[in-house]
Amino acid sequence: MSPTLLVRSSLPTVSRSLAVARLPPRILLHARFNSTLDSAVAAKAKVVKTLPDFSMANKVCMVTGAARGLGNEFCRAFTQSGCTQLAILDLKEEEAQEAAQELVKQSCVDSDMEPGDYNIIGIGCDVSSELSVQQAYRRVMDTYGRIDSVVASAGIVENYSAFDYPFDRIKRLYDINVHGAFFTAREAARHMIPQGGGSVVLVASMSANIVNIPQPQTPYNAAKAAVKHMAASLAVEWAKKGVRVNCLSPGYMLTKLTRTILAHDTELKKTWESLTPMGRMGEPEDLAGAVVFLASDASRFMTGSEIRVDGGYCII
Ligand SMILES: NC(=O)c1ccc[n+]([C@@H]2O[C@H](COP(=O)([O-])OP(=O)(O)OC[C@H]3O[C@@H](n4cnc5c(N)ncnc54)[C@H](O)[C@@H]3O)[C@@H](O)[C@H]2O)c1
Repeated sequence: MSPTLLVRSSLPTVSRSLAVARLPPRILLHARFNSTLDSAVAAKAKVVKTLPDFSMANKVCMVTGAARGLGNEFCRAFTQSGCTQLAILDLKEEEAQEAAQELVKQSCVDSDMEPGDYNIIGIGCDVSSELSVQQAYRRVMDTYGRIDSVVASAGIVENYSAFDYPFDRIKRLYDINVHGAFFTAREAARHMIPQGGGSVVLVASMSANIVNIPQPQTPYNAAKAAVKHMAASLAVEWAKKGVRVNCLSPGYMLTKLTRTILAHDTELKKTWESLTPMGRMGEPEDLAGAVVFLASDASRFMTGSEIRVDGGYCII
């Protein structure tokens, strides 16, 4: 390693300047040149801009099924993009509130922000109950007075062959995955239309487009196809009223939902990976850019669309 590099990489700033002062003239010149470069880079870093339309600052957001899994990751993506007003909805109020506190804590790490700068709340809500969804929206409106971006992420999956699937469980799956998404979107639009508009993101799945193998999950696949077409249909109903509705369709992602399935079948992960062109399962944060795009003004001319984030699964 050159002396300059050694000085640059191995010492803290104060010791670095002392060490630089003791260097012979040729190396000193080199070190000064590099330190000028460092300051130029630092100065330049200050003026680097990103597209403002991707910012979630000043937007009130709400995510269902957000105490954990993808929903929780969507909340993190929003706060990382400047959102400070956010409602986390999940079945158990206590878990939603814990997730809210945890998110505030995380958002203050390596940041100038303080806990008091955030207004993040946790609300207990069962999306399969229209009344429960309406009550949750009322609390969101009472707290923030408006709602700009909503993500319907609450969902479940089960693997039964068609002949073995008990009807009460099929019904429960549709109640959560289909009717839950509908109630969430409809209440969003009821509040967004009078305020001039907003963005709704329904979390579907690549299963809306393909049939997963080898595990049987017909009602889930059909439910996700329904969610995808629901987004398109609602988009048309509300397009002129300023409410955009799009859907986000993940491929196989590593969350509790998939870990529960994989716990019973260790070979299944290898099968899923081999069927995915990118050769791996997705991490929840792989969806961060797509959800911020759909929820923010960056996608302002987009409605009724689907974004697939699946490592290429659906293209083969
Ligand atoms: N993980 C994947 O590979 C994957 C792939 C494609 C689509 N999806 C979809 O993404 C969404 C989130 O999945 P995940 O992997 O984060 O699942 P997850 O099981 O990790 O988390 C789902 C969350 O939803 C909550 N929830 C369940 N029923 C609810 C209800 N009735 N009301 C309110 N909240 C409820 C759960 O408590 C949980 O916190 C689901 O709609 C799922 O179908 C997931």
